[in-house]
This record gives sequence, structure tokens and C-alpha cells, in this order.
Amino acid sequence: MKKKWWQEAVVYEIYCKSFCDSNGDGIGDLRGVMSKLSVLRDLGVNCIWFTPIYTSPQVDNGYDVADYRNIDPAYGTIEDFKELLEMAHAMGIRVIMDMVLNHSSDEHPWFIESRKSKDNPYRNYYIWQPPKADGSAPNNWGSYFREGNGSAWEFDETTGEYYLHQYSIKMPDLNWEYEPLRREIYDMLHWWIDLGVDGFRLDVFTRFKKPAGFPDTQKTPDPKLDRNGFVVDGAMCTNVEGIHEILHELYTEVFGPRESMTVGEGAGVSHHNALDYCCASRGEVDMVYHFDLAYRGRYVISNELFRKVQKGWAEVMHHNAWPVQYLSNHDSARQVSCYGCDSAEYRADSAKLLAVLVHTTPGTPFIYQGEEIGMVNVRYDSIEDYNCRYTLGDYHAMVARGIGSEEALNTVAPRSRDNARTPYQWNSDANAGFTTGTPWIKVNPRYSEINLERDLASEDSIFAFYRELTRMRREDPAILDGDLTFLMEDHDRILMYMRRCARQTLLVIANYCGENTAFEIPSELRENQWTRRISNKKNTEPALNGTRALLPWEVEIYELAR
Ligand code: GLC
Ligand code: CA
Repeated sequence: MKKKWWQEAVVYEIYCKSFCDSNGDGIGDLRGVMSKLSVLRDLGVNCIWFTPIYTSPQVDNGYDVADYRNIDPAYGTIEDFKELLEMAHAMGIRVIMDMVLNHSSDEHPWFIESRKSKDNPYRNYYIWQPPKADGSAPNNWGSYFREGNGSAWEFDETTGEYYLHQYSIKMPDLNWEYEPLRREIYDMLHWWIDLGVDGFRLDVFTRFKKPAGFPDTQKTPDPKLDRNGFVVDGAMCTNVEGIHEILHELYTEVFGPRESMTVGEGAGVSHHNALDYCCASRGEVDMVYHFDLAYRGRYVISNELFRKVQKGWAEVMHHNAWPVQYLSNHDSARQVSCYGCDSAEYRADSAKLLAVLVHTTPGTPFIYQGEEIGMVNVRYDSIEDYNCRYTLGDYHAMVARGIGSEEALNTVAPRSRDNARTPYQWNSDANAGFTTGTPWIKVNPRYSEINLERDLASEDSIFAFYRELTRMRREDPAILDGDLTFLMEDHDRILMYMRRCARQTLLVIANYCGENTAFEIPSELRENQWTRRISNKKNTEPALNGTRALLPWEVEIYELAR
């Protein structure tokens, strides 16, 4: 069947703030992106996803939107954006925007109006509730960012009511029950499509619908983090009955008729319920990215988990849905530090192995900026250097409970989202070539060892390896069309799988650990002729007979001779 463009895409996520600064103010911007677009084209990227670049007070780096129809002045102007769009399109690169529709900034004119009075025309754009009889918050929900007293409700003096904010106090939740709000959002989305954008990434799209009556959560709080009786329970507002009606209306009003691509951030979506959202016949979203593998705070992905999740999604695929493959993004730590090994010895090999897993499993690969040069986690000395709301919230909650600052920092640092948000490392100049000024967040000190300029100078680099993988996607039919079968299923170090379509069979073998591993090549493989297509250890002998010994993090792709 003819594929949709987004099924053939290689998506590259740009965290604009940390990508490239063109004017020395320390903040990445659109002109900076424009100056680097050709690098992305050479990498084989044909779609970029911008995390939010709209006007915003930047409480959550743009996920707090104050004007959905404008570009934040720190990033440029709408004219710059149009220019960028034209440039990208001329290079064959599509552009998708991050749409934050669960909440806005409290500085959005809608909210400024909404909080003025109970009968303001914008009152119902947000979720307001009266206090309980004793004046306390409407229920026991805690907010993700754990600001203030930890409640997900903030009292507003002016009208004597509380508003809901699942995230920051400065990010009130929008009220999807209210039709005028929905209309306003549809108009705005049409406006972006008219401007030429090719699709949208939908922020926390499973959380638009809230449960009727706002019942208390019964979840037992995590004593290490929750406080004042407020409990963070994602399940309360995730996949709530009625969410599908909302998404279907969005589709029929906007995405469907405009053929605009959507990828939802699937908090609460796994291969078990994915079809409820992204089965083509439902008319909701085109793709969902899940947290079954990449998950904040997960440091190991076992072979067992990898196989289980990949098989689950391969099954989903047979029912007219299309998976996303990725291992990290702007909300996680760096994949090579979590699931590979970021030591000087194994960083490149393990980064390449992870790249193979993402680019050779079924679905559309998403690359997060810096992954293609193997950028690693950072450890700042002081909490002052951190910016991520989760990191700050968790840290201060721990310190408030009497945990020492060093211990608290050691706990929050490895999973901080700031690991992924350090400035892109372009070269070994000051500040990694990201800015001539002072970067808004400190550069990773390993930038002279890890940077694009170095990678471009070597044929063996991680960047060159990614380029090979994106080329395979364009040229090797089994990557796009092949089914997925695992071999050696009970091995806890070797991942082995085949991708097979009518025209081609590929075989991936990965020694997914930092040790030498010897194993017997399965007999069914020995009868055939295989050619090695890709390897991250150029000096080893390709061999698929008898016993095979793989080096730490060794990965190879073979093709069956026909
Ligand atoms: C999503 C975003 C994250 C943001 C949150 C609130 O999870 O990816 O960066 O903090 O939503 O908008
Ligand atoms: Ca700038």
C-alpha cells in the first residue's frame, strides 16, 4: 500500500532554545535553525518537530503558551518562521509544530480575562471550582510540578474560586467541555495550516478530558515526594471517558479535512490501548509515541522488555496503526547515558547500537537533537544551574523533608530533563559554538570530545552512522515494509531480529551490553548466504556460522542474499 509521507519520514526534534543562537543572546533561535538546516538534510532528516516556539513567559520553556499565533521574540518573528518554512520545504523537509492544548500560560489573554469575574465571557475557557466548605482545594490532586503547597488547584482571590493546573501554577488547564474554546482552538490550528505547517505534535493529548465531578484520587502518595496530602496521580486525568469524542471532533474539524499529520504524546498509551487512539479508521491521531521503553528515570531497557514492546507494537501495526520509534526526547535524560554507556571507550559504539534499534524496528524513527553525535548527560554542581520544573520540584520537596542537598541533587540529576536540554555541541569553540554570549543553560563540559565538527571529520562517526541508517530507510524496503520476528528469544544479552518483506530480508544482531558475548548462531540462519551491510566494529569478521563472539555493544545488520 502507498505509504503516507509521515510513515516514510525521519523526524528530528528541535528544542529551539538549545539548538543554535544566531545573535549572541544565549538563546537558540529561528535564524540559528535556518543556518543549520542543511546539516539536517545531509543527515537524512525529512521532517522537523519544533517544541513550542510561541510567545511564552518560559516557565516551562514554551509549554506555557501566551499567544498561540505568534513566535516568541527570543526566537524571532512570524516572518522568520515563514522564511524558515520555505527554506525547509525547498530542502524537502516538512515542519510540524508542538501544540499545547491541555493548558495555556496564565499570561494568555484568555486567562487574564477568565480570572476577572465569574461572568466574564472567558470564564469557562478554564476549569474553575468553588472551595470545599472549609475553604480548602476542591480535591486532593497534586500537580506534576509540585509548586506551592503541591495542590493541582490554585486559589484565586478575585473570585474566591480555585482553577485547575495539572502542571505549573502558571499553566492553567483549558476547559475542553466548552465549545467556544474548542472553536477558538480549531481556528488557530487552521491558521497554522494555512501558513504551511505540515502537522502537529500534540502535547499530553490524553489528558484533555477530566473526570466528572473531580473526585479525589485514592492513590497512596509516594512519601518521598508528595506532600500536604496532595497526591500526584496521572491516571485521574488520563484516558478519561469522553477523550475520544474530543479527539475525533478535532480530527473532523481540522486534521482530517486538511490532511494534517498528528503525533500525540501518549502518556497512558501503550500497545494495549493504542488502537483506541491511532487506528486509522477511528479518525483521531495518526501516531502516538509511548513510554513503554523510554521513560524518565528508567536506566535499563532489558531485552525482554524490548522484545515485548516491539512485538506489541508490531501487532498494533497489523491493525492499521503506525508506531513511533525513539529512545529519548526533551523530557528524558540522554539515551546513550541511560541505555548505552557514555564512557569515552564505549560511547560511540553504544550510541550506534541504540540508533540501530530505533531505525530498524517498524514505524517512524524520531531523532532528538544531539543524539546523532552521541550527546551525554550532564551533572551540574548546584541546583541553581538546573531549570527543569520536575527537577526543581522534586529537589525542593526532598530538601523540605530533611534530605541533604547533595543527596537530593544526586537523586534528581540523573533523570533531570536538563540532561537533554544543554546547548547543542557544534564544535570545540567556547560554549561549543552554540552562542557567542552566555548560554541560558550551561554547556555540557564534554563538548570538546563530543561535537558535530569532530563527527563530520570522521567516516566512523556516530553522525555518519545515522546517515547510513536514514539512507537504508529510503533504499531498503524491509525497513519500511518488513514484518518483525525475533530470534534467540531467551538470550539476555543478544538482541536478534529479522525484518522481512517480499523483496528483502534484513537481520539485526546486537550485543546489548558492555561485555564480550559468545553464542551459537541459530541453525536456520546458517543455511543461507548473508552479506553484512552495517557494523559498528569495522575490523571484525562478518560470520553467521558456528559460534560467534561479539564485542561489547557490537551491532551489525545483514542482508539475505537472493
Ligand atoms: C509534555 C511536554 C513537557 C511539558 C509538559 C507540560 O510532557 O513534553 O516538556 O513540560 O507536557 O506541557
Ligand atoms: Ca538568540
